[in-house]
Amino acid sequence: MPKKFYVTTPIYYPSGKLHLGHAYTTTLADVLKRYKDMQGYETFFLTGSDEHGQKIETKAKEAGLEPMAYLEDKIENFKNLWTKLRIDYSKFIRTTDHYHEQTVKKIFSFLFEKGLIYKGAYEGLYCISCEEFLNTDQIDEQGNCKISNNKPELIKEDTYFLKTSQFQTFIETILESEFLIPDYRRTEMLKNFVDPGLKDLSVTRISFKWGIPINEDPKHVVYVWLDALTNYITALGYLQEDDELFIKFWADPETEILQLAGKEIIRFHAIYWPIILEALNLRQPSHLLGHGWILSNSTKMSKSLGNVIDPLEVIDEFGADGLRFYISYELPTEKDGNFTIDLFKESYNAHLANNVGNLISRTNNMITKYFQGYIEGNINDVDLTMINLANESINQYQTLMDQYKISAAMRVVLDLSAACNKYIEETTPWNLDKEGNTKELTTVLMTLQRCISIISYLLKPVLVENYEDMIEQCGLENVELSFESLKTFTNLEFKKLGSKKILFQRLK
Ligand code: MSP
Repeated sequence: MPKKFYVTTPIYYPSGKLHLGHAYTTTLADVLKRYKDMQGYETFFLTGSDEHGQKIETKAKEAGLEPMAYLEDKIENFKNLWTKLRIDYSKFIRTTDHYHEQTVKKIFSFLFEKGLIYKGAYEGLYCISCEEFLNTDQIDEQGNCKISNNKPELIKEDTYFLKTSQFQTFIETILESEFLIPDYRRTEMLKNFVDPGLKDLSVTRISFKWGIPINEDPKHVVYVWLDALTNYITALGYLQEDDELFIKFWADPETEILQLAGKEIIRFHAIYWPIILEALNLRQPSHLLGHGWILSNSTKMSKSLGNVIDPLEVIDEFGADGLRFYISYELPTEKDGNFTIDLFKESYNAHLANNVGNLISRTNNMITKYFQGYIEGNINDVDLTMINLANESINQYQTLMDQYKISAAMRVVLDLSAACNKYIEETTPWNLDKEGNTKELTTVLMTLQRCISIISYLLKPVLVENYEDMIEQCGLENVELSFESLKTFTNLEFKKLGSKKILFQRLK
């Protein structure tokens, strides 16, 4: 039985166009999914759209449309972006999908019957942009929400509460485990939200209509976060007739479940979501990977702040791989990062054009020039220092990717590529050719050909548009590769190199 991996992104609000911040989370999930595919896992990758709530209702009204009509082209735009960014998701869930709405009602009823939901009244400041009641720590001196900068509105209404306060010890235990990564986020959560004492969560609203009405009291609609969080299991068929995916990818304790979320929404995923799962008697995800923000002019890139970059423009101009690489390498999840077109070009030129692209092209040119595209040689005619370094890089890369440290794994590959470029300068194959030292020239180029094959394979989850060309230039097109086979090359045969395309042309 293959191992199983289930990865999810948050579902995005279709209240405008998706920007680079959204592309960030989704790209990370895609890279990890593709890596697990290469490891032979059976994978499932879920993304989607979060379509209910006051924010969408308000936006639709402003546009003079019914919410469903307002949403129509937005969802197509999401899917179009994911196609262009080469996102290989398994399923796209919309919270307006009938099966999801029906299941949310069932979940609510289950919790209600279990005595975990009760009726009360709430008074507090609500940020429509974040869809969240704010506590005083979440409000700045001007009285605005610290995340969205918007003025929260005072809301006083009847509501149903989920007894989250009962789960204080449970959440403390979860946050002391290795569930949330990176680990400093655990301290943040405990300090800011758990240590002061968990308060019951308001889980229905009555002052607007655009949500899922509860069976018990239909003028109440389910709070958008309860509705949204459950997407991770409703999409798999939870409480539905066909629950095969749920059994396989959620219920099975052996499945590795990874959920990704940006730092402003970690709280929902690290506190409320585990509580909901516990209340439903379900297992917890293996890990929640919290990531930082992409900043633009030193503040969070966001629709409400109006400083967004459209990922489609970047892709149309520079291709999907450039953006996928920038996200994977330049924006490690542990901290906030910057994106500007200048930084993007600088990174692309330094790493993809001058380092990796140049190495593959030089190696390919030399094999073509000195050996007419095919080196006759013994598999052991290689420089062991370089081959050991390459094999060590495969191990390090796997260890880091297994810990979801994509940027650090990319660093390992780039270092290997730089070491190969240095190896060319040191061994000067053009002099070996002049001297007629065919034996040494064979060793150097066989070594390099193996190394570029390894480098290309390790970059496969990220450089999906260029991978085929890269591997062809290594002489390995249509050859079944794996991490293991690249360590020994025992059953791998290089083909004669043919014509080639320039990889990663320098950007001006
Ligand atoms: N709908 C909720 C999530 C519900 S999940 C059950 C939501 N949607 S969102 O459209 O606002 O976007 C969510 C994701 O995009 C988060 O992971 C968030 O961190 C990410 N990003 C939005 N702007 C971002 C940056 N500027 N930088 C990095 N990621 C950011 O919240």
